[in-house]
Amino acid sequence: MGAFSGFYKKTIPERIEILKAERGLTEEEAKTLLNSGALDLETADHMIENLIGVNHIPLGVAPGFVINKKEYVVPMCIEEPSVVAGAAKAAKLAAQSGGFSADADEPVMSGQVQLVGVPEDALIKFEENKEEIEKVAKELCLGMERYGGGFRKAEASLLDTKRGKMLNTVFLVDVRDAMGANTINTMLEGIAPLLAEKIGGKIRLRIISNLATRRKARAKCIWKKERIGEDAIEGILDGYELALHDIYRCATHNKGILNGVDAVALATGNDWRAVEAGIHAFAAMDGYKPLNKFYKNEDGDLVGEIELPLAVGTVGGSIKTNPIAKIALKILDVKSAQELSMVMAAVGLAQNFAALRALGTEGIQKGHMKLHASNLAVLAGAKGDEVDAVSKKLGEEKEYTVEAAKRILKKLRGK
Ligand code: HMG
Repeated sequence: MGAFSGFYKKTIPERIEILKAERGLTEEEAKTLLNSGALDLETADHMIENLIGVNHIPLGVAPGFVINKKEYVVPMCIEEPSVVAGAAKAAKLAAQSGGFSADADEPVMSGQVQLVGVPEDALIKFEENKEEIEKVAKELCLGMERYGGGFRKAEASLLDTKRGKMLNTVFLVDVRDAMGANTINTMLEGIAPLLAEKIGGKIRLRIISNLATRRKARAKCIWKKERIGEDAIEGILDGYELALHDIYRCATHNKGILNGVDAVALATGNDWRAVEAGIHAFAAMDGYKPLNKFYKNEDGDLVGEIELPLAVGTVGGSIKTNPIAKIALKILDVKSAQELSMVMAAVGLAQNFAALRALGTEGIQKGHMKLHASNLAVLAGAKGDEVDAVSKKLGEEKEYTVEAAKRILKKLRGK
């Protein structure tokens, strides 16, 4: 990752040149990145309704991630200072200890068809007709079989609700490198009439579930104590322990993890709302808990582990329509949705490590304000070397305002 050392000190054009050399970005792709209007109105007008413009969220990269011995430069789309820096620092410290190991489940998603007003023997009727139901479901997923995926199985449960008996039928499909919503929802709408014909009742919801518990990714890292120091380890363990015992802390602990996960989901054109919904539901399955865990091994090193349900894709949806998402996936250089989910799990773990390490020692504001100061310097009109000079002075004067930055800049320019 030598080419990326001190990446943050480079100018934007210099960073793009490094990505061209290290990640094979074309001139065209470089121009797209440098032209922040990459998503043109016409393309965007085909993505959502009532379009009036395009919002812009900063896109950065966190270099230095070593996962399963492969080096990654991770694109992150986020407006919050210090998140990218924290991920990069955590990755660098992790790489010095051997990096992350990660793995992911097969990309199996589930979808539900709801039948209301069903007879008492609805479950029996489902079982009696299950063979035919699964045969038709399989036919409706033949397209996915071309890629090695396809229909896996159907299950059902009878719910006794205050609105009467409902049959909740669940269909499992391996959706390979797609997030899976289109594939599954189309199949569900196709199979629903057969279910109603064989079982009775009225068709209501036919929709994917965002709780992708069959499609989890895991990451683990051992940060060596000689690399990060005893105090950092104890601080992280104390921070983690509080999250284990206090839901108010746990919400913020998990938000820190999702800072990283969402930033990668957004950069790669994925549905980060689906990711968030599934992850928080997963965290709450046995009472809301941290998404990861930290503990010391017998050598006194810090071990971090995370497991997340991740319904993300590298094909389909807006992933291929959004030029920035295509470039972000090229920079990330993942070969499958499973590999993408492993990277996201590692980034989530790294993000939490960075936050707890800072929170448990010097506090978050030191790093945060150092980065915020350069934002203020830019807002005040500072260019090139002036940015560092102004942000340094802001830190010395401990006055983080645009007015202070303008005053310092004016003095710097001798006006
Ligand atoms: P530092 O010690 O000044 O960094 O830390 P360093 O000089 O040792 O540099 C080490 C590496 O860090 C660099 O490697 C970069 O990769 C990266 P190099 O390029 O030198 O080979 N790095 C940076 N990357 C981009 N821009 C920068 C930068 N500086 C270093 N400016 C740092 C500085 C900010 C990284 C450190 O203070 C830190 O990690 N702070 C914590 C950041 C963080 O986690 N912020 C929280 C985001 S908000 C959040 O998580 C919500 C929260 O509520 C969650 C929770 O409560 O749990 C906090």
